[in-house]
Amino acid sequence: MKIMVTGGAGFIGSNFIRHMLTSYPEHSILNLDNLTYAGNLENLKGIESLSHYTFIKGDIADARLLESIEFDAIINFAAESHVDRSILNAYPFLQTNVIGTQCLLEAAKKRKCRILHVSTDEVYGSIEEGLFIETSTVLPNSPYAASKASADLLARAYHETYGLDVSVTRCSNNYGPYQFPEKLIPLVILNAIEGKQIPVYGDGKNVRDWIHVSDHCKAIDLIFHKGKAGTVYNVGARNEVQNIDIIKKILMIMDEKKRHEKRSFTDLIAYVQDRPGHDRRYAIDPTKVETELGWRPEIDFDKGISSTVEWYMENREWWKSILSGEYMDYYKQQYDGRFRE
Ligand code: NAD
Ligand code: DAU
Repeated sequence: MKIMVTGGAGFIGSNFIRHMLTSYPEHSILNLDNLTYAGNLENLKGIESLSHYTFIKGDIADARLLESIEFDAIINFAAESHVDRSILNAYPFLQTNVIGTQCLLEAAKKRKCRILHVSTDEVYGSIEEGLFIETSTVLPNSPYAASKASADLLARAYHETYGLDVSVTRCSNNYGPYQFPEKLIPLVILNAIEGKQIPVYGDGKNVRDWIHVSDHCKAIDLIFHKGKAGTVYNVGARNEVQNIDIIKKILMIMDEKKRHEKRSFTDLIAYVQDRPGHDRRYAIDPTKVETELGWRPEIDFDKGISSTVEWYMENREWWKSILSGEYMDYYKQQYDGRFRE
């Protein structure tokens, strides 16, 4: 089977491609990614030369390009994914997350092939108490979340109208290696290493439900192979943490590793203006994927966060070239002209 993974140069997509190439040497993986600021082929270093892996630089909203590519199934990670950027400019979010997803649904419809659309718990909005289930009302609060919810509704419509074999996954906050440094966890680690302030939005008591990226990837693999068409699956590790607690946890791990230094990294914490429309709490119920498909998260949060801190401490080259902007220049020279655009 030739599986087209879109957005495979980003954080979760690159972790997923590594997982698939190791788990299914019989499948070939085609990575379609237009390398926005969040796409980095360094995330896939070491696998470029594998015979069952191909990279195509291209946009998911390019319907003609999609027509020219051969594939048997699609897994869609491609997105504008950062809430803060969507507050500054929603347009690219609508273009990629809505129009781009619609182009992929159309391409899957033409080939009568399976498509898994990777979505987010943010589509449900914020919840004071209890947990969102798959049939909860979709009430997105940020332009990012609204664009993802729109794509989810299009996926549903393509199933209802055309019988498309489509499943949607709604996962909670991921952490792990290769996450772009504008997101909370890598930002905290890298700012601490560089002695910069750690901005905490509002009172720091907003709650996120954290899952290691490798557990998310295994859930997607399972849902792609065994999930029901026209169905939504929540994916989460039942691991709610307040932002300030996760920040302190990371800084304590870092303090432990640098015991000789008198100053604690926690001195770098700075409370700043809140994110507009900042969702107070995300919490989803993953019972459906657990009971129907037998998925369970495997990575304990304390171990996962500690190994994630270590990964960023050991992979300075990777993040330094992102912070300096070099990664963009390097890949521009390397890949423009060598791949279809
Ligand atoms: P990311 O921002 O790290 O990566 C996105 C990737 O998509 C990049 O490689 C980028 O170049 C590519 N891309 C963007 N626009 C494109 C386009 N028009 N055509 C082709 N490629 C394009 O994102 P991520 O954190 O890896 O998230 C992946 C998916 O998972 C997204 O759909 C996101 O909504 C969803 N999700 C993320 C999380 C999380 O915590 N990070 C949680 C739940 C769901
Ligand atoms: O819930 C899933 C979503 O998780 C995904 O759909 C998104 O793609 C992903 O980016 C993530 O969204 P969040 O907005 O929750 O992630 P972020 O890392 O931006 O922020 C996590 C929390 O930390 C949030 O409550 C805002 C807060 N925060 C974030 C940053 C960047 C801070 O307090 N300070 C910061 O500097």
